[in-house]
Amino acid sequence: MARIVVGVSGASGTILAHRLIQALSTLGHNVELIISRDASLTILKEMGEEFASPQKFVKSFSEELRARIRLHHADDFSAPIASGSYRFDACVIVPCSMATLAAISTGLADNLLRRAADVALKEKRRLVLVPREAPFNEIHLENMLKLSRMGAVVFPPIPAWYMLPQSLEEMEQFMISRLLDQLGIVADIMPRWGES
Ligand SMILES: Cc1cc2nc3c(=O)[nH]c(=O)nc-3n(C[C@H](O)[C@H](O)[C@H](O)COP(=O)(O)O)c2cc1C
Repeated sequence: MARIVVGVSGASGTILAHRLIQALSTLGHNVELIISRDASLTILKEMGEEFASPQKFVKSFSEELRARIRLHHADDFSAPIASGSYRFDACVIVPCSMATLAAISTGLADNLLRRAADVALKEKRRLVLVPREAPFNEIHLENMLKLSRMGAVVFPPIPAWYMLPQSLEEMEQFMISRLLDQLGIVADIMPRWGES
């Protein structure tokens, strides 16, 4: 089973983090979770009061799934994932704010989430970033290009209308299935193009 670091930063799209953790833990994978300080506000605005602290966010999963989720405080640099000697298979920042994107692209590891992404880069492990902003300015684009050239996968949460999603949830599930592909997790949770 894989060990995946999931960082949630303060961009819009926090439900994607929840859906991804649900999928990973349901599939039996282990999640090392970090929620940035500012993400608590976006979670509050988008998901409601009952999710709006890291502890409440984790509590929203079933007991069985919670057993596979390890929550880290965003300031805890003594956490195992802050070190390259600790093995994890991939790191995903979902959603990724422009602030966190800029920090990662310049090596500014000033919270655990940014440090874990820095570790993934230095150890040449899979790093997937889900940047959410519109429109992108030149700084955002330059940061994405820089990180892509370093091997990170830049995966903005852009819908695919050709899949004819019938609801927001279906569209989000499609994104999650593509995200799992990028994390190297084999799971056919949605039909693929050309498949029924
Ligand atoms: C409701 C709300 C929505 C936001 N959406 C975005 C967004 O989509 N993208 C972004 O880059 N920042 C967004 N922000 C701003 C970030 O939260 C802010 O830059 C924050 O400092 C990011 O910190 P973090 O990357 O450490 O989590 C939003 C803020 C709020 C309150």
